[in-house]
Amino acid sequence: MTIKPRSLVIGAATYVPGLRNFTGRKTGGTVSARYCYSVWLRHLCMLHWHGLPTTFETVAELGPGDSLGVGLAALLSGAKRYVGLDAVQYADSARNLQILEDLIVLFRNRTPIPDQVEFPLVQPPLSSYAFPAELLTSARLEAALNPVRLDTIRASLADPGTSLRDRGLVCYNAPWTMAMIEDATVDLVISQGVLQFVRDLPGVYKGMAGWLRSGGIMSHEIAFQSIGITTEWNGHWSCSDAIWRLAVGRRRHATNREPHSTHIALLQKMGCQVLTDERIVRRSGISRGELAPRFRHLTDEDLTTSSALIQVVKLA
Ligand SMILES: C[S@@+](CC[C@H](N)C(=O)[O-])C[C@H]1O[C@@H](n2cnc3c(N)ncnc32)[C@H](O)[C@@H]1O
Repeated sequence: MTIKPRSLVIGAATYVPGLRNFTGRKTGGTVSARYCYSVWLRHLCMLHWHGLPTTFETVAELGPGDSLGVGLAALLSGAKRYVGLDAVQYADSARNLQILEDLIVLFRNRTPIPDQVEFPLVQPPLSSYAFPAELLTSARLEAALNPVRLDTIRASLADPGTSLRDRGLVCYNAPWTMAMIEDATVDLVISQGVLQFVRDLPGVYKGMAGWLRSGGIMSHEIAFQSIGITTEWNGHWSCSDAIWRLAVGRRRHATNREPHSTHIALLQKMGCQVLTDERIVRRSGISRGELAPRFRHLTDEDLTTSSALIQVVKLA
């Protein structure tokens, strides 16, 4: 068995009344403005390097976590509106406002993108971490960082709307429902480290594809690892459903164990064309013979893909 004994203890503890709240109280990354800046600029650079658009009117983010910093970075790059949709309300106004001020300084200084030395776990890695001045030109930044506009963002952030139907530059909703965004109203849907936790993947991909206008973009960074529950990075594919349920217990977020190929197939089914598929390839920690019956169909590519940045365009 590859499950860590500690995971089984934590999984069992989540059934004790009151203890479940100790799992998933914070998400980790977006507490730091430099992290949010790095994540946003990595998605933006990858879009540019793959010949995709980099200017967007309306940006929606799934699972922003502890702050709306990634979306704020999008607004400071010129996006007109942002909506963050999370399963759990982790972000709060005080942290959002502080992150906004820190981000303004990072953009004003044309700070290089924080790299793998500073954030070794953040994917995708880039071939250059220089500030992308060819995308974020002086004219674009001057307009986006205009003091009057910044005051409008601050005001909207202090009192965000709950759906895109509300006026204002910033909307946030947690827990969200599909009806909060009308079809064909969004230009970019982004997520970082989220889709591996989503339970109803077909439903959520259908929703995201529906929100996009024709020609709209999705940019998702997805991890396929067991996230500390098993000793091998991909040991979750060797666990029976019963053992997995025991280890996961009632944790707030647990990986859905879907491999890379599931996400590609769903995106294609929803009428999207995959234009970027930057996979991080890692030696498998388990042999084919160790795969649990329901994961025997995994391709060699699935078995060795530990994360991927997938960017797609919605076809007409
Ligand atoms: C590992 S955190 C990542 C947070 C943030 N994107 C970052 O980069 O730090 C996972 C996030 O996914 C969110 N999440 C899980 N299932 C979700 C769902 N069905 N819809 C929206 N967000 C979800 C969690 O609430 C959490 O905020």
